[in-house]
Amino acid sequence: MTAEPALLHVASVFSIRSHFPALERTEAGRPVAFFDGPGGTQVPSAVAGAVTDYLLHHNANTHWSYPTSVETDAMLAAARSALGDFLGGDPAEIVFGANMTTLTFHLARALARGWAEGDEVVVTELDHHANVDPWRALAKEKGIVVKTAPLLGGTAQLDLDALARLLGKRTRLVAVGAASNAVGTINDVPRVAALARANGSLVFVDAVHYAPHALVDVKALGADFLACSPYKFYGPHAGVLWGRRELIEKLDVPKLRPAPEQSPDRLETGTQNHEGIVGCGAAVEFLASLAGPAGERRVRLARTFSALHERGEALFARMWAGLGAIPGVTLYGPPPGARRTPTVGFGVKGRASEEVARALVPRGVFVSHGDFYATTLVERLGRAADGLVRAGAACYTTEDEVDRLVAGVREIARN
Ligand SMILES: Cc1ncc(COP(=O)(O)O)c(C=O)c1O
Repeated sequence: MTAEPALLHVASVFSIRSHFPALERTEAGRPVAFFDGPGGTQVPSAVAGAVTDYLLHHNANTHWSYPTSVETDAMLAAARSALGDFLGGDPAEIVFGANMTTLTFHLARALARGWAEGDEVVVTELDHHANVDPWRALAKEKGIVVKTAPLLGGTAQLDLDALARLLGKRTRLVAVGAASNAVGTINDVPRVAALARANGSLVFVDAVHYAPHALVDVKALGADFLACSPYKFYGPHAGVLWGRRELIEKLDVPKLRPAPEQSPDRLETGTQNHEGIVGCGAAVEFLASLAGPAGERRVRLARTFSALHERGEALFARMWAGLGAIPGVTLYGPPPGARRTPTVGFGVKGRASEEVARALVPRGVFVSHGDFYATTLVERLGRAADGLVRAGAACYTTEDEVDRLVAGVREIARN
């Protein structure tokens, strides 16, 4: 059999695994299989090394003339440039912050300073509430009307025709997720963006669950703003916001008078998490390095993501088939072959989600459970009381781990 070109040129899963010390962990004598990537992935040595190196050898505040401060400026600029390559945007459009939620609240408040009472924002039932509640907060703060695009009845897919009908002359912004963190659905963001643009509305994209699985291209997606969280793609706990420069420069942002006016600094409040930002850049470098040293970083990232996508599809198909064959297991979200991430949400008849997650621990299988703040979706799926069990494949996930997950759930469902 001939391997696909993308797989040929990217590090094998076994070589990838050697970068992650966490994978040496055991639980009850078994190696741990981490399926909790959608909540936060493990971190390669290079990322931890970059964080430590910054703290131990370059630690300073910015914009002064002595060497550690100059080095700090250069290291933050290098991380901004890496994230620019990662998202397909200009480094001057990359804003760092504590996490996606905080950045989104901050942006929403700044945008609303330019909106009037009665102006409208469209959110969706599929989204994580970090892309719902910062917009809903504007109802209280500014009298903004928030409309919610529904799911197609009984599914975990957005009803895009219904979304289109919500757009009107007062719609200032459409807030949409690129992928569902609970069940993996990938949305047709370019279509949503085209609808919004034709209506004269801005588009904010939550790419937190999408960015670990597909190479973001802010222009191809049609976004005006897009946020992601590097701790979901092998980086430290931090958040990143990309925005079109002319929009960032126009924003009436809450800021201190002496703080810089230019983009992106005007959106970054106070002293940043320098070590975290340096680690974010290292996470992008790590992903690019999986495709070898040759070529520009964005090109190498494209090769890496193409290979990870192929592997993810195969792992997901195995997970879906294995779990789906177990009596009493209900799977949610689109089946293999549909546009989705390798994240599965499921329930086991007669077993609480928390119970399933706990029973998998002695088998060395770590999964998360609950509603993952995709609360409305989980309610619509009829699982408000108990939530879902969630298992996500990451770049270090093997077929053997998937088989251990499936075998564990089979035993739990039987007993
Ligand atoms: C899809 C999605 N959006 C937003 C968030 C919130 O991100 P953060 O923790 O960086 O605020 C998460 C976190 O799980 C998420 O999965």
